[in-house]
Amino acid sequence: MRSYLYVTLAILCVALLTTNTNAFKGDLVEPHDKPYVEKYKSDKLDFLTFGDWGYEGVEPGQIYGNQSKVSIAMDDWAKNYTSNFIINTGDNFYISFDGDHEGVTSVNDPKWNRIWKGAYKGRLAEIVWYSVAGNHDWYGNITAQVDYSLNEDDRFFLPSAYYVRESYFGPKKTKVTWIHIDTNIFFYEPEDTEDRPKLINQLIEVGWDTVQTINDKLKWIEDRLIEQQDTKWIFVVGHHPLIGKCADKYYMGSLRPLFEKYRVTAYFSGHTHSLAVESAKDGQPVTYFLTGAGSKTDPPCEGNDWGAPDGTLGFLHTTLTEDKFTYEFVDATTANDPKVIYTGSLTPRP
Ligand SMILES: *[C@@H]1O[C@H](CO)[C@@H](O)[C@H](O)[C@H]1NC(C)=O
Ligand SMILES: *[C@@H]1O[C@H](CO)[C@@H](O)[C@H](O)[C@H]1NC(C)=O
Ligand SMILES: *[C@@H]1O[C@H](CO)[C@@H](O)[C@H](O)[C@H]1NC(C)=O
Repeated sequence: MRSYLYVTLAILCVALLTTNTNAFKGDLVEPHDKPYVEKYKSDKLDFLTFGDWGYEGVEPGQIYGNQSKVSIAMDDWAKNYTSNFIINTGDNFYISFDGDHEGVTSVNDPKWNRIWKGAYKGRLAEIVWYSVAGNHDWYGNITAQVDYSLNEDDRFFLPSAYYVRESYFGPKKTKVTWIHIDTNIFFYEPEDTEDRPKLINQLIEVGWDTVQTINDKLKWIEDRLIEQQDTKWIFVVGHHPLIGKCADKYYMGSLRPLFEKYRVTAYFSGHTHSLAVESAKDGQPVTYFLTGAGSKTDPPCEGNDWGAPDGTLGFLHTTLTEDKFTYEFVDATTANDPKVIYTGSLTPRP
C-alpha cells in the first residue's frame, strides 16, 4: 500500500513537471513524425546519459555488480542536481548468466523488474528514460519493449524506433529538439548473416534489410532536421557511436554529414562500452559523445579527443541553461567513490 502511494506520488510529480500535449501513441516500425512536447518549469534542464546497462552479472571478487556501481552513483547525481530525465542510448537487456536470454521476451518478462526497476532506485525511478534500441534489444523481442512503453509504463519511453521530442524550459521557453533514432540498420550489413542471425532475421521480418529502408530513414532524419531549424539546441540519440574510427561501419558514415550540415549540437551514443568525446571544432560543428559504460567495459573509440582509461564504468551528466551546455563524465568504477574525470561545455547552435 505504501509503495503504491509513493509510485502514485512519483507519477504525479512527473506529470506535473511534464505536460505532454500529444496523445501517447506509437508503433515500432512507423517513425513518429509529430514531436512529443514537454514543458519544464525549471530554469535549466539536467539529465544523465548512459547506455549498455542491462548486464547484471557479478564478476568474481565483486561486491557490487558493474550495473549497480553505476546506478548508485547515478542516483547520487540525479538527487543532488534534481535531474529531469535520463537519455538511454540502448542495449537495455543483455544475457546476464547461463540460461538467461537476450533482450526481453515479452512485456511480462521478469527482467523488467529485475534489471530495470530493481536496479535503478531513488530519483532514477521517478524520472522518464528516453530510450533507443541497441542490437541486444533486437536480439530479443524489440516489439515487447515498444509495447511495454505504450501499455505498461511510459516512464520507459520508446514509442517507436524513430521519434522526435521538443522540450521547453525556463522563463524564455527555450526550445530543445531531440531526435531519437535506431542505428542498427546503418551498422549491420544484411550480408552479415553469420555474425548477427538474430538481428538480421528480425530486420527482414519488418522489411528493414534493404538499402531503400536506409535511404528512407536518412530522409526521415533529414526532414526532421529541416523542420527543427528554429531550435537553439538539437540533439540526436542513437545506439552506435560516430566518434573517429567507430563511424566507419556500413552506412554509419552517412549520418555525420547530415548532422554537420544541419548543425546538430551533439550526438549521444553507446554500444562501445566506454566514455569518450570527439569535440566540435572549426569546420565540424557537432560534438559526438560516447557513453556506453553502464555495466560493461571496452576500450574507447580510436580517434576521440578524450577517452576514459580501459575498464572505466560510468555515465555522462549534463546541465543545459539557456545559453550553455556543461557536461561531466563520471567514473563510477568504485561504487562508493565516484569521480568526475572529464568536463567540457558547448554553446548554442550558430
Ligand atoms: C550530493 O550531496 C551530498 C550532500 O551534500 C554530498 O555529500 C555528495 O558529495 C553530493 N554528491 C554529488 C554527486 O554532488
Ligand atoms: C513479442 O512481444 C509482443 C508484445 O508483448 C508479443 O505480442 C509477441 O507475441 C512477442 N513475440 C514473440 C516471438 O514472442
Ligand atoms: C566490470 O567492470 C570491471 C572494471 O571495473 C571490468 O574489469 C569487467 O570486465 C567488467 N565486466 C564486464 C562484463 O565488462
